[in-house]
Amino acid sequence: MSRQPTPATHYIRSLYAAQDSLLEGIDNRLKSINMDIHIGADEGKLLQLLIALREIRTIVEIGTLAGYSTLWMARALPEGGHITTLNKEPQHIAMARESFSKSEVKHKITMLEGDARELLPRLSANPDFKKTPLDMVFIDADKISYNHYLDWAETHVRKGGLIVADNTFLFGAVWQDSPPEGVAPTTWKEMRRFNERLADAKHYMSTILPTQEGLSVAIKLF
Ligand SMILES: C[S@@+](CC[C@H](N)C(=O)[O-])C[C@H]1O[C@@H](n2cnc3c(N)ncnc32)[C@H](O)[C@@H]1O
Repeated sequence: MSRQPTPATHYIRSLYAAQDSLLEGIDNRLKSINMDIHIGADEGKLLQLLIALREIRTIVEIGTLAGYSTLWMARALPEGGHITTLNKEPQHIAMARESFSKSEVKHKITMLEGDARELLPRLSANPDFKKTPLDMVFIDADKISYNHYLDWAETHVRKGGLIVADNTFLFGAVWQDSPPEGVAPTTWKEMRRFNERLADAKHYMSTILPTQEGLSVAIKLF
């Protein structure tokens, strides 16, 4: 999610993470409809760096919105690489379809429409999906379901692959002793449990990168 950028974020974005006209168009469109809940360009570049560092070829993204993060990631994939992105909101799906159709990496993207909780088991059962090892899962959808998505990622991401999740600071609520006003206790509990699971050094080499929203990055060790 992109909040009002800090001077540091602004500096990183201007120097390292310039948007082309397609990304800028999506960013402006989302701002104009008060749906500015996508990652920032600095985080897009960070995802690209992770993809390059771990030689990631296959990604499942949970939470497409208008395809902003999908495009950043697809652009870092090598030829033959692929990202499957999941979304349930018809309005978001329409925006993402439009974004992808204008991009030079549309052949690397598949969008699945529906609730991720229903789509993921179907994806697991798909014989084509089973043929290729899954290198990375990027979680950026409903916060209440993060542990459910982590269960799925733990089963499907290959050993040495990446699990990445956005908003794991839960808007500054996650380190508080009790859920602050406006944050549902169940969501607060779920996010704390999610972070505790990824912090388990027996199973992950991991941390939360201190972006504005908190970006969890974990190499799966099992
Ligand atoms: C924060 S936005 C994703 C932003 C996007 N990753 C980006 O940075 O450009 C979250 C998206 O997840 C979708 N979403 C939320 N819960 C979902 C679910 N259970 N199944 C599928 N999509 C879901 C929402 O419709 C929304 O488009």
